[in-house]
Amino acid sequence: MMKILIQNIKGLIQYSDSKRGIIKGNDMGNLPVLEDSFLIINDDKIDSFGSMTELTEDTETFDQVVDVAGKFVFPCWCDSHTHIVYAGSRELEFVDRINGLSYEEIANNGGGILNSAKKLQNTSEDELIESALSRLNEVARTGTGAIEIKSGYGLTVDAELKMLRVIKKLKDQSPLTIKATFLGAHAVPQEYKEDRAGYINLIINEMLPIVKDEQLADYIDVFCETGYFTPEETEKIIQVGADTGLKAKIHVNQFTSIGGIETCVKNSALSVDHLEVMEDSDIDCLRGSNTIPVLLPSCSFFLKIPYGPARKLIEADLPVTLATDFNPGSTPSGNIPFVVSLACIKMNMTPEEAINAATLNGAYAMEVDDELGSIEVGKKANLFITKEIPSYSYLPYAFGSSLIETVFINGKKV
Ligand code: NIG
Ligand code: FE
Repeated sequence: MMKILIQNIKGLIQYSDSKRGIIKGNDMGNLPVLEDSFLIINDDKIDSFGSMTELTEDTETFDQVVDVAGKFVFPCWCDSHTHIVYAGSRELEFVDRINGLSYEEIANNGGGILNSAKKLQNTSEDELIESALSRLNEVARTGTGAIEIKSGYGLTVDAELKMLRVIKKLKDQSPLTIKATFLGAHAVPQEYKEDRAGYINLIINEMLPIVKDEQLADYIDVFCETGYFTPEETEKIIQVGADTGLKAKIHVNQFTSIGGIETCVKNSALSVDHLEVMEDSDIDCLRGSNTIPVLLPSCSFFLKIPYGPARKLIEADLPVTLATDFNPGSTPSGNIPFVVSLACIKMNMTPEEAINAATLNGAYAMEVDDELGSIEVGKKANLFITKEIPSYSYLPYAFGSSLIETVFINGKKV
């Protein structure tokens, strides 16, 4: 048994004495902060916490005592949307965009997702594991403690399964909590351009049964977008996924609004992700549903596309969630502190709203809320300590600074 005392915490962020539900609407402005406090880690779990005045145990009884005067303690971020298993990088497309090409034009010229798929098909499982592990280490250092990872750069039976087997191994090899999402419907491969139904049948009849047998995925995803998959095709895949026991987390409304949100809500998707281009009717669809809206502002930043309508979603009493979208094409970054800053700067979320969105709501969007997303007795000791800062709002304010000093995953320093 390893017992660690963290004491003299300036503010313990997102603590809760009993389970807090997903955070919606006006309540998103409420961020619980316990000032002048302590927290005790026992092995891999949060054992207890409270005000310094309530600390009764003798410091001798701990294996380690960490004094954090002037510093804040946060629960780790829960990044519910990434594509961190990939091969190669796409900075040439980045330069093409600087020179005036659009994301769509690049994709139509053989770049984009198909470019990454070609590279991944020719990369071994071991190489994919190695590069993904190094990305996981990188995001852990900026405070991420749980992460969802999608397939979708395979686009053949073999390569999609290879990606998912890699993610399964990452679950064993990384201390982070990982959820896997099957995104066979990320793009229509070149050889199926004239036979879209053929590719969808391949997903349903060849890929999904093995995904199920080998328990390779927790969720199913589709890129529902003009030029990718229609709402009707999306619905079919969501429904077959549901029969296989996979809830849906869907890419939708990134570039165009084509009715995908209605399809997702009707089919009880767990989350709808991106939402850069939203009609009022799309927001109305989400109102009162259990489908979680996930915004990805670092994708908007990198592709220079609109930011999701965070304020309108909050006004509609919805539980806005933030994630990175870390991937080689549209968001080559997994830095949640930057996402939180962008949410404040570009989407007018308050620091309280943005921190709620990237912690507990992120946990709900990947169903790890029982063990992560907040400081609660019995939850995993995935938390981070900041440097000395004047207030928690300083974190999004001082964008680009590395203000996270120490990260604990499963009670161990990383
Ligand atoms: O979430 N939009 C679809 N998929 C990724 C980008 C894919 C790529 O360009 O490689 C995204 O932005
Ligand atoms: Fe994505």
